[in-house]
Parts: sequence; C-alpha cells; structure tokens
Amino acid sequence: MIEPVYTPSPSRYDDGMIYRRAGRSGIQLPLLSLGLWHNFGSRQTFSKVREMAHYAFDRGIVHFDLANNYGPEYGTAEENFGRLMETSFRPYRDELFVSTKAGYDMWPGPYGNWGSRKYLMASLDQSLRRMKLDYVDLFYSHRYDPATPLEETLQALVDIVRGGKALYVGLSRYPLEAARFAFDYLAARDVPCLLFQDRCNLLDRAPIESGVLDLTVAAGSGFIVFSPLAQGLLTNRYLNGIPADSRMAEDRTLHRDVLDEAMLHRLQSLDALARERGQSLAGMSLSWLLRDERVTSVIIGASSTAQIEENLRSLQGLDFSEEELTRIESLVRL
Ligand SMILES: NC(=O)c1ccc[n+]([C@@H]2O[C@H](COP(=O)([O-])OP(=O)(O)OC[C@H]3O[C@@H](n4cnc5c(N)ncnc54)[C@H](OP(=O)(O)O)[C@@H]3O)[C@@H](O)[C@H]2O)c1
Repeated sequence: MIEPVYTPSPSRYDDGMIYRRAGRSGIQLPLLSLGLWHNFGSRQTFSKVREMAHYAFDRGIVHFDLANNYGPEYGTAEENFGRLMETSFRPYRDELFVSTKAGYDMWPGPYGNWGSRKYLMASLDQSLRRMKLDYVDLFYSHRYDPATPLEETLQALVDIVRGGKALYVGLSRYPLEAARFAFDYLAARDVPCLLFQDRCNLLDRAPIESGVLDLTVAAGSGFIVFSPLAQGLLTNRYLNGIPADSRMAEDRTLHRDVLDEAMLHRLQSLDALARERGQSLAGMSLSWLLRDERVTSVIIGASSTAQIEENLRSLQGLDFSEEELTRIESLVRL
C-alpha cells in the first residue's frame, strides 16, 4: 500500500504546547517530550510508531528522546526513527530536537558498553546510520562509568561536538560528585552540558533529595525528567489490576511486586485527589513535576495516541494550592 504523504498540522505551535529554556542555553524544549524506550521498536508495527510520532509532532512535541539500545530489540527504535526520517520527518529536520545516548550494553565484547571513548564514538556512528541523520541535536553519556577515567568519557563528548556529530551534549544518571566534575570539565572546554537527565516523579524524588537538581541548575544546565509516570504506575493503568497489554504485565522493567496493597492504596488516593482537581492521575503527576520551573521538560513514554492526548492535558493544570501540595506529600507517604 502506498502511504499518504505526511503533512504536519499547521497549528502545531498554536495548540497549547509550552516551551521552556534549557538552563543557560539557546534551546527551548516542549514541556512534554516523547521517549522511544518502549513501544517504538521492532515488536511494534511501524504504522503504530508512525501514528504516535506524527500525533506528537502535530501537537508541538518536537523533542524525541532515543538511545542506542531502545526497542526492543536493541537499535530498532532508532531504525524506526530512521524510517520516519525517510518517509515523513525529513522536510522538518530543523524543527526537530533529536537526542540519543550510549552507556548501557549494546553489542558484545569489551567495547559495546559503559563509557570508553571507543564505545561512545562507535555507538554514535551506528546511531546516526540507523536514524538516517547527519548529526543529533544532543548526545548523552547514558550513565556514569566508575571504571573509565571520567576525563576520557567527557573528552569524547567534547570531541563529538567538535566533530559535528552532535550539537550539544548531556549527562544521564550521574551521581552528584561525578556530575559536578563533569559540568566543570565540559564548561571549561566550551561544550557545556545542555541537559542532565534523571528519573523523578511523585514516588521517587532522588535528584531533588540528592542535590543533583540544584547542582544542575547552578551549573546552568537544563534538567529533563525520565519516567515521570513511574513507567505507568502513576496513571489509571493499574488501579483495577494489571492489563495484559501493559508494561507491568511484561514484568521486565516494571515489576509486578511494586504493586502491593500499600502502593495500590497510595495510587487510588492520589487518583481521587487528581479527580478533585479535574485531572487524571497521569495529568496531575506530570503537572506536579512541571510546576517546578527548574524542570525543562518531562519525557513521557506512551503506547497509544490516547495516552499522549491525556498527558498533554497536564499543561492546563500547572497551578497547585499549598493545601494540594501538602495533601500530595501525605498521600505519597501512605
Ligand atoms: N536516561 C535513562 O536512563 C532513561 C531511563 C528510562 C527512560 N528514559 C527515557 O524516558 C522516556 C520515558 O520513560 P518511561 O517510558 O518510563 O516514562 P513514563 O511516562 O513514566 O511511562 C510510560 C508508560 O506509562 C504508561 N502511560 C503513559 N501515559 C499514560 C496514560 N495517560 N494513561 C495510562 N498509561 C499511561 C504507558 O504504559 P503502557 O506501555 O503499559 O501502556 C507508557 O508506556 C523513555 O522513553 C526514554 O526516552 C531514560
């Protein structure tokens, strides 16, 4: 079947998307970004991938977050993104902000994991080939490697920018002291960290508690959140059991044992508060993160356009009263 030519919505920038500046930089990102970790690889039909990507772009979600090993299978989210480039997104390349990463296991042997210069350089070349891109907007060191000298990893990032294969660099999940060193190292070489990526949500505030968010802001870097919905826990997905087509049913990255009685009670109570506010649990969870101006964007995952649609409504609920915030704090501790 011949696919119709994609024409993006002419109102994509007038439909309510809000853009926020990433630290002290020239880049603004949509408050919601789309992550391709799950549901965009070879186990998904390409028509579904395309439907969700177009749906997002049509609503001003111009930032797509990838990594070398997203799929599943490894590499196939990037391959599907390359197919999107070839079949629909190419004319809009300059409207897109595409990130990828290397740092986790990707290929066998000693050079397909962690933080060596050899791995990062080779992995980015592979990512560019899969995504049919000449450059990415942002390349991340996906995790801190305690065995490789940090200078080696960071200098590879600097050289990647100088070589024109990425416009900016970012760090993901670095512990506090390594992050501090990295921010200074990169800034001293005029390749400042654009974004620090970490997990943060109503149930897990590690970057706030560790001080890494404050450090990021002080360093002039933007802060972008992953798993803002705790992989789907902070939605209506599990309020009445575990649906067969859900991430938890796979029991791979979101485990069934998280959903004990206490958690279910917590989620139901948060859901009731969200409904009082005229929001869904997902919407309130995203609004709660985005009310903090230090958060540049949240990267949502999705398995349907309906989920993206629901999540976009969070942009209309960014105000919280002190009483609501206090209630949220007591509910997450239930
Ligand atoms: N840097 C890192 O180390 C790292 C780690 C993890 C993720 N990330 C990035 O962050 C992105 C987002 O992570 P994530 O997928 O864990 O994010 P998430 O937004 O917390 O979870 C996404 C999942 O939640 C469910 N969901 C989303 N909206 C929903 C709604 N309105 N109603 C019901 N269910 C809903 C869907 O689950 P179902 O699929 O079950 O429908 C969806 O796949 C990734 O794609 C990746 O780009 C980075």
